[in-house]
Amino acid sequence: MTTHSKQQSYIDTLNELLKGELMAMKIYKETQALQGDEHVRALLQQFAADHEEHARLLTQRIRELGGIPETETGLAGTMAGIWAKINALRGPSHLLQQVYAGEDTGIHAYEDRIDELDPQSQQLVSEIMSADHDHLKHFQERMEAEKRERQK
Ligand SMILES: [Fe+2]
Repeated sequence: MTTHSKQQSYIDTLNELLKGELMAMKIYKETQALQGDEHVRALLQQFAADHEEHARLLTQRIRELGGIPETETGLAGTMAGIWAKINALRGPSHLLQQVYAGEDTGIHAYEDRIDELDPQSQQLVSEIMSADHDHLKHFQERMEAEKRERQK
């Protein structure tokens, strides 16, 4: 591969990862107000801010590599957004299942793609992944608490 196309493939990979961050950020922002559970709302608020920061960092890295950050999340993003609103209205357990699956998919995307990146982007991605593992853990704890509550 020439240097140019290598650089472009880093940019393309980072743009794909950026899409996931933007999708998560949008969903967490849009669903916060839709459901009444205060704890879930606080988690969504905090994680929306994390994803916004991740998106900012990925955008910055894409620009450093000479790329153009993509800001559209496409049809998948639109569909996920619609489902999130429906799930938020159905209740926190439905929304939690979706956001948990979303975070899990996001982490796998990072794990699958990290080897394709330049060392500096790899460093950034591994920092983002550790925050996402934390999100996953908090959602999981909340889902388990809910399960215990239902079994009482
Ligand atoms: Fe996350």
